[in-house]
Amino acid sequence: MSKVLVTGGCGFIGSHIVEHLLNTNQEVVVLDDLSTGSRSNLPTHENLNIIIGSVLDKEAVNEAVQGVDLILHMASYVGMKLVYKEPAQSYNVSKIGTENILKASGDTPILLFSTSAVYGLAATTDISEDNKISLERAQSYDGDVKSYSSGKWELEQLGHQAIAAGRKVMIIRPFNVIGERQSAAYGMVVPNFMKNCNTGIPLTIYDDGEQTRSFSCVKTFTKTIFKLLESDDAWVSPNNIINIGSHHIISINKLAHYIKTKMQASSPIEYIPYDTIFPNKKDVRHRIPDTKLLTKLVGEVNWPTVEEIIDGLLVHERATAQAR
Ligand SMILES: NC(=O)c1ccc[n+]([C@@H]2O[C@H](COP(=O)([O-])OP(=O)(O)OC[C@H]3O[C@@H](n4cnc5c(N)ncnc54)[C@H](O)[C@@H]3O)[C@@H](O)[C@H]2O)c1
Repeated sequence: MSKVLVTGGCGFIGSHIVEHLLNTNQEVVVLDDLSTGSRSNLPTHENLNIIIGSVLDKEAVNEAVQGVDLILHMASYVGMKLVYKEPAQSYNVSKIGTENILKASGDTPILLFSTSAVYGLAATTDISEDNKISLERAQSYDGDVKSYSSGKWELEQLGHQAIAAGRKVMIIRPFNVIGERQSAAYGMVVPNFMKNCNTGIPLTIYDDGEQTRSFSCVKTFTKTIFKLLESDDAWVSPNNIINIGSHHIISINKLAHYIKTKMQASSPIEYIPYDTIFPNKKDVRHRIPDTKLLTKLVGEVNWPTVEEIIDGLLVHERATAQAR
């Protein structure tokens, strides 16, 4: 049995990762300050120790890293509404939090969660890891202030320094992961649309709604992460910076109509310019990953379509409502 630290483990993705670790008989330590995560996302389990604390707190970090064999570092301030309101905190949690974790944990192998947002506003449908990123480019996504994306760029730089010093580091760049337990509170589009359909309030679409995204199922995403962790090649440079995401593309208009129809909702659809909600910021027109590297490392990933994910979420929602 190995002991794994998951920072941000009470969050949406973290809770699926922790679930997988417990199911495969690992001992798990979670460090989470519950800023966006929730204790109720995780079970009570004899192999699970949850430390409520921040990656910005060196004492809490020192306690969390004791005796661990692997670190999955995903503590982060996530969600456009939150990040827009608190850019400095978002930047610092990634930059200083990652510094603290790396310093306290010697040469323990570590998986760092970056983001597709480091590619900035790149309006391409095929973003590969070869695409050069820069602080400037990351910051363009943040509306030219240091915030979420710039903080993740710093996280990647810290990762590169650790790799240069001989440490086992993998950096992943997820592209729009969705599924059970994703919060609607911080601006994530799918849980927001579903919540609004449940209550009949309007679905708000930014600009013309023809921007496209690919959405990745959190369960498939989690399985993919564990395949990568087991791949020796994925830990070796230049393979160790990896896009993860599906290729099934959908426009936000189609997404809204699909959810509305499936939920037989009366919610109207309203359009507003992106910059009335997020002044000085631009929306990304298309964000679809090139995943040739991922395929090379773990084989073809069988991503469900966004429609299949939403159908599954609705089945889950109904079953949960019936059980209450
Ligand atoms: N969900 C996506 O589509 C997506 C896309 C790209 C990258 N990511 C990355 O994946 C990771 C998980 O994201 P998520 O969608 O599950 O978001 P989430 O908000 O559900 O999870 C983040 C977790 O980090 C915790 N946290 C925040 N600040 C902290 C701090 N200072 N100390 C300790 N814990 C702290 C939160 O309480 C939360 O539990 C993040 O690193 C995020 O940047 C997610």
